[in-house]
This record gives sequence, C-alpha cells and structure tokens, in this order.
Amino acid sequence: MEDIVSLCKRRGFVYQNSELYNGNSGFYDFGPLGSELKSNIKSQFRTQFIHSRSDIVSLDTAIISSPKVWESSGHVGGFSDPMSDCRESKKRFRSDQLFWGNVEDETGKVVCVVCVHEDDTEVMEKEAKKMAKRIIKNEKLEVSGKTKVDISTFKDLTVATEEDIKTIPSPESLKPTLTMPKDFNLMFSTHIGASSTSSAYLRPETAQGIFINFKNVLSSTRMKVPFGIAQVGKAFRNEITPRNFVFRSREFEQCEVEYFIPPGDCWKEYHQEWLDFSKNFLLSLGVRSDLMDWDVHSGDGLAHYARACTDVTFKFPFGVSELMGIAARGDYDLKAHESGSGKSLEYHDVERNEKYIPNVIEPSLGVDRVFLAIMCSAYAEDEVGGEKRNFLKFDPKVAPVKASILPLLKNKPELVEVAEDLYKQLKVRWNVDFDVSGAIGRRYRRADEIGTPFCITIDFDTIEKEGKTVTVRFRDSCEQVRMPIDEVMGFLGKEIDG
Ligand code: GAP
Repeated sequence: MEDIVSLCKRRGFVYQNSELYNGNSGFYDFGPLGSELKSNIKSQFRTQFIHSRSDIVSLDTAIISSPKVWESSGHVGGFSDPMSDCRESKKRFRSDQLFWGNVEDETGKVVCVVCVHEDDTEVMEKEAKKMAKRIIKNEKLEVSGKTKVDISTFKDLTVATEEDIKTIPSPESLKPTLTMPKDFNLMFSTHIGASSTSSAYLRPETAQGIFINFKNVLSSTRMKVPFGIAQVGKAFRNEITPRNFVFRSREFEQCEVEYFIPPGDCWKEYHQEWLDFSKNFLLSLGVRSDLMDWDVHSGDGLAHYARACTDVTFKFPFGVSELMGIAARGDYDLKAHESGSGKSLEYHDVERNEKYIPNVIEPSLGVDRVFLAIMCSAYAEDEVGGEKRNFLKFDPKVAPVKASILPLLKNKPELVEVAEDLYKQLKVRWNVDFDVSGAIGRRYRRADEIGTPFCITIDFDTIEKEGKTVTVRFRDSCEQVRMPIDEVMGFLGKEIDG
C-alpha cells in the first residue's frame, strides 16, 4: 500500500488535501493523472450503464436538498455510526471497530483487559506494547471472540517479566479509558441563506436526489417501468475514522442507479442481472477478477430497508473490503418520500393495468474505491534488459495518458516537427503526451510508470523511407511494431475505444 500511496503522490495521481497547511484528514485532491483516471472511470460508467442501454436515463441533482428529504429518507434519524472517545489519547473511534480482549495467564485467569482498534495501528501498537509487558505465551490474542490480533506483527515488543506480571492492573482499572458508545450522525450540516436556524445537509449519497425526482422523470420522458435513473456525483460523510487512503474518505464520488421494477418476486431476477452487469463493468475497467469476490449480506448485516444486498469486494493490500453494493431496496424509499411529502408517487402501469409503488434495485459504486482497486490491480513489477521495472498495467480505456509521442532525437527539427504534427492530431481526441527529453529508454520507463499503454517513436525511417512508418511500443510486452503514421489514429481508436 505504501508503494501505491507514494507513487500516487510522486506522479500526480492523489495529493493529501490542504497539505500546504499540514493536511485535512479524510479529504484528498486528485492530481493531473488522478483526475484523468477518475474521469475515465466515470465516463465508462456513463457509457456502459447509461448510453449503451435504452432503459436508463441520467440526472444531476443538487448536493443540498431540503432537510425534509433527509428526514423522510431516515438519514436524520438513523444515518449514524457508534462512537467512543478515548480519554487518554483524546482520539475518537468507531465503536464497532474497537475490540475488547481478555488476556489470560497460563491458568486461564484474566490478567488484563485490552482494547484494540481494527485499523488504527498506532493505538493497537500502543495497547499491544502495554499488553506485551504483561504477557504471555500466546502469540495471538482472542479479542471479544470475534477476531484474532497477531501480536507478532507489532514492532518493539518486550516480553513480560515475572515482575511485570505481578503489577498487572485489574481489568476494571483499564476499561474506563474509553467512553460508552454513542450515536454520531455522519451527515455534514450547514445553513442555507442568512438564517442560522435553517440547517441543511450535504448529501451523504446521490440516491435520494433520484427518488425525489422519480415523478419528474416519468412526466418529462417516455420511460416505463422497468427503467432506471443514474447519477454520478459527490457525496459527503463525516466519517469518524477515515482510513486507508481514498478508500474511506469524508468527500467522495458515487455512481448510482435506481432501477425501478414492478412489485413481486421478479426482483430476484433483476438483482442477479445487476450483479452480473456490475461485475462485468468492473472487469472491463481492469479490476483483477482474482481479487474480486461477492459478500452476500444476511440477517444483521442487511439494512432494515433492504430485501437483499450483495457487495462486490476487492482484496486491497489492507484487507478484503467493499467496492460496491447491489441492493434490492423494495419500495422503501418511494414510500418514505410519499409519506414525508404527502404526494402520491404511484406509478400507473398501463400494460398490467395496475397502480403501484415500484420496487428498486440499486447498484451503487464509489469512484474513489474503484480508482484504488484499479491502481492495485495495475501495479506491476518485472525486469527489462536486466533492470527492475515498475509499471501500471492500466486498461487503455482508463489509462490517464493514452499514448506518448517521442521524437527519437531532440536536436533534429525534422523529427520533432513530424512528431508535433502527430501529437496535435491525436490530442484533439485523447489525452496524449509529448516527450523529447532524455534517452529513449528513460522516456519509455517514464511512460510505463504512469501506465501509458503505447509509445510512438518518430525516427529516421519515418522521414527518410517510403511509407512514413513509426514504431509503436506496447507497454506490457515492450514489443514494438512499425506502422504507417497515417494508421496510428485508427489503431489507437480500436485499442482505446474498442
Ligand atoms: N445509496 C446507497 C449507498 O450509498 P453505501 O454502501 O453507503 O450505499 C455505496 O455506499 C458505495 O459508496 C460503497 O460501496 C463505496 O464504494 C462508496 N462509499 C461509501 N462510503 C464511502 C467513503 N467514506 N469513502 C469512499 N467511498 C465510500
């Protein structure tokens, strides 16, 4: 993960927001390459989820809606995480990421109680060190019967002496460092206009903007159930513990579809269709299939309004986590807004000669998480000419730079001129690079490191021989082929746009 974070900063994919002022936790800025990659992910979502289908239209709704929207949707009352304060470190934690554990001696007597945090290694290390002073034979610690913490992964552990063990504080004396969990609402609040009493919220999901416009879309288009409304846009959550780089941040982007279907059992079929469609979408962007999996929610793991929810998970370097969710939300949302607004959101199905509140299947993905999954999938190392090479194996569709145009020599105006002409031609259609500085091998490496799939070199054969051919080098295999310069545009078109 550190390698990816450092590459992201060095090559201009992601910067910490407000770094100049020592940072702003949970917020990130996307640099020149990151903003291109992100924009390509969103554009692929638009192509595959909206433009290539006749049953989906899009919306772009306001980030701030009437607070009544969030009251009806249940966010004001229930969009919260349990939070505990640590009296010692003054840090705040999500209580569901804290685990209490009993540390026992060889006879099974509890010798101390520790609290560890799932992600905050700083706290874990601190607690583990405290604990190690008192321990103990086991390398693994049973924590709340839920998880096992591998103590051997912590640095600087000291093994407890007999003396240490005698001075172990009682479990009760250690517990009160954390306050009891209380609910913390994750919505950012703000004010509308000059009145400080008119509170409003930044949207924590794009979905509600779709539900409140359901009737508008029906009356302004010819869409008929089953059909979907998609939205791409920013969402804001005041996460208690933002973590793992852009994986859990306080400002992020979502691509969501609310797909409206008739009531009844048909939702199972639609849900399966959207699972398959979503997985194929992620594969088409270059997310590695061997790192992807499904997580089917059931029982307690299912939101109260959902009939079913399956997450697509990804094996990130920090663990397996949710990439996107595909939920069957029943008629919960439209009914909630119908009762909140007092206006009918019923649909008249002419074919079935029935009036009903449609049910909803919702594929919802986080652009920043897909961004990270693509970075992790693409990150590769090999050896070229006896030298180690780091490169990013981006699918050409999402690669921030599609091709790098390289005149073989900087000081030969006849080569530079032809290269510049080609660059200008391609630039109109794609984000391409022009690089004249340094030896050709070094320029290839620079392009490889940022995942540029093709390097096009203009050499003496281009200007001296018949056919005006250039070399096209493929990033992953380093193979080169010659092709007439006039064919480059068509070749790239096929490779990038399919
Ligand atoms: N409308 C449904 C909804 O918002 P969610 O599971 O809360 O469901 C959907 O969010 C997706 O949004 C997640 O699968 C994830 O990809 C992304 N997401 C949620 N919270 C995020 C955060 N704090 N940072 C980055 N992405 C987040």
